[in-house]
Amino acid sequence: MEIRIRNLTKKYGGKLALDEISLDINGGLYGLLGPKGAGKTTLLRIIATLMNPTSGDICIGHLDLGQRKAIRDILGYLPQNFSFYPQYSVYEVMDYLAVLSGQKDPVWRQEKITQLLQQVNLWENRDTKTRVLSKGMKRRLGFAQALINDPLILLVDEPTAGLDLEEQVRFRNLLSDFALERTVILSTHIVADVEFICENLAILKEGGLIYEGRIRDLVRKGEGKVWSLLAEREDTLDIRSDYQVISYVPEGDMMNFRLISNHQPGPGAELVKPTIEDVYLGIMGGVMG
Ligand SMILES: Nc1ncnc2c1ncn2[C@@H]1O[C@H](COP(=O)(O)OP(=O)(O)O)[C@@H](O)[C@H]1O
Ligand SMILES: [Mg+2]
Repeated sequence: MEIRIRNLTKKYGGKLALDEISLDINGGLYGLLGPKGAGKTTLLRIIATLMNPTSGDICIGHLDLGQRKAIRDILGYLPQNFSFYPQYSVYEVMDYLAVLSGQKDPVWRQEKITQLLQQVNLWENRDTKTRVLSKGMKRRLGFAQALINDPLILLVDEPTAGLDLEEQVRFRNLLSDFALERTVILSTHIVADVEFICENLAILKEGGLIYEGRIRDLVRKGEGKVWSLLAEREDTLDIRSDYQVISYVPEGDMMNFRLISNHQPGPGAELVKPTIEDVYLGIMGGVMG
C-alpha cells in the first residue's frame, strides 16, 4: 500500500518537530532513521491518526487523514513505549486487545492468537505473566498484538532499541518476513536495522528530511570521503578537532584513524570503502551532504 506524505509540518507550541516533510513510501520495509528528537515518533503518530499535523497531508492508498476509522482498520502500530497489563498472561493480553479492537468471535480470536503467538515464537510462553517476560519477548508480543487485525500497514517505533543482538536479529527477521507482502515503516536510531532489512529509507534530523532514497545510493555518498590515516599518537587531539573521526585504534607506535574528509587528510592516507554508518555519522555531523 502506498503512503504519500506532503509538506507535513508539526509544531508543539512553538517547537517545530516536523518541518515540511514529503515522502513516498511504496510498500516493503521502509526505514525511518534518525537520532532522538528527530521527529520519528511524531511522524508515526500522525500516520497512525493519533495526532493531527499542524499542516500538510498524508494519503494512504485512497484514504486521507480525515478517514480515521478506515485508516485504523488497515493499520497496525507498535508504539515505542508499549506496555502491557503486568498481571495478564501473554495469551490474556492478546485476547484482551483483540476484543478491544472489535474481534467478537471467540473461535476466530483463538485461531488468530494461536497463529500469531506461534509466528513470534511465544506460543510456549502463552501462560507467562507479561511482567516477567524479557525485553525481547515483550517486543515480540508487541509485534503480535499489532498484527491482530491483519494490517496492510505496520508502524513500528524503535522496536530493536535496548534488545540484545540476538533479539535484534530475531526481530528484524520477523519484520522482513512480514514486509514481503505488506508495508512496514520501521523507525530506529540503530543504523544496522535499516542496513540489513530496508531497501529504502528516510533520514530525519531535528524535524528535517535530510535523505530519502535507496540504501545503496546512500552508501555512494561516502565514496571518496572515508579515509584510513596512520598518524602519530600525539596528533590524536589535532586530528579529532580537524576532522570528523569515526574511530581510532592503536597500531604499533602509531594510531590508525578512520575519518571523513573531502580531501586527503595527510600523507599516506588511504581511501576506504564507506559503510552506512560512516555516511550516517557524516551526515549527522554536517560534513557530508
Ligand atoms: N508532546 C510534546 N510536546 C512538546 N514537544 C514534544 C512533544 N513530543 C515530542 N516533542 C518534541 O518534538 C521533537 C521530536 O520528538 P519525537 O517525535 O519524539 O522524536 P523521536 O521519536 O525521533 O525521538 C523533540 O524535540 C521532542 O522534544
Ligand atoms: Mg521516538
